[in-house]
Amino acid sequence: MNVLWDAGTSIGRVAPPKLEEPVLLATFNMPSQFYIRLRRTRQLDASARATIVELCTAAHQADFSHLFYDLPADGLHFIAFFDEQIVSHAVVTTRWVQPERRPILRAAYVDTVATLPAYQRRGYGRAVMRELTANISAYDLACLKADRTAFFEQLGWERWRGPRAGRSGPELIPTPDQQNIMILRLARTPPLDLDRRLAIETQAGRIW
Ligand SMILES: CC(C)(COP(=O)(O)OP(=O)(O)OC[C@H]1O[C@@H](n2cnc3c(N)ncnc32)[C@H](O)[C@@H]1OP(=O)(O)O)[C@@H](O)C(=O)NCCC(=O)NCCS
Repeated sequence: MNVLWDAGTSIGRVAPPKLEEPVLLATFNMPSQFYIRLRRTRQLDASARATIVELCTAAHQADFSHLFYDLPADGLHFIAFFDEQIVSHAVVTTRWVQPERRPILRAAYVDTVATLPAYQRRGYGRAVMRELTANISAYDLACLKADRTAFFEQLGWERWRGPRAGRSGPELIPTPDQQNIMILRLARTPPLDLDRRLAIETQAGRIW
């Protein structure tokens, strides 16, 4: 469903389509000890949350202790296990983006893509991203802020070349420093001009 900011429509009143229920996923070309589970944020207990925070902190070498304060309850986590240890992770939340002169799009916004350093370069990160992509077809578009653009380009993601901005009510906040905003076209994605402006609705504490 497309809505227009300019028409004064409240984004909060647009009911998102229901995503698939969390399932245990089989993966191809992976050792049998490797599997991926989908879980909503609200389904993660304190132990799983702490492990994901530790994983993200180790992979990004940054403090992620705030992660579960910022995530909505319906965040969709892709959690990869090897021998029952969490080794890789990504999370999808719903955000709203608007390409210049286009309707607002419901975006699957991807955060905290991370693999434990000791388990990197085994294909786990790619496996997580592939499963993630297979589970976001109800969205209009996928979007993320990349630290490693090459990793995502190999998976079909494209860097947004045009100006980036945050939208807070009627106000547009330019974000020229954000060079690594990437999008993934999905089945529902309309034609896009990557050289025009892309605006995202701001969140408490962050724009992108
Ligand atoms: C980016 C990141 C998530 C990738 O996770 P990963 O599990 O290592 O990913 P993969 O193994 O699927 O692929 C990573 C690389 O390993 C290579 N690789 C995959 N399997 C391999 C194998 N069996 N042997 C050797 N190399 C392999 C891939 O070709 C890829 O190489 P490239 O990125 O140089 O092209 C991980 O490096 C990470 O956590 N980085 C820190 C946080 C970060 O930057 N996150 C992403 C940006 S938000």
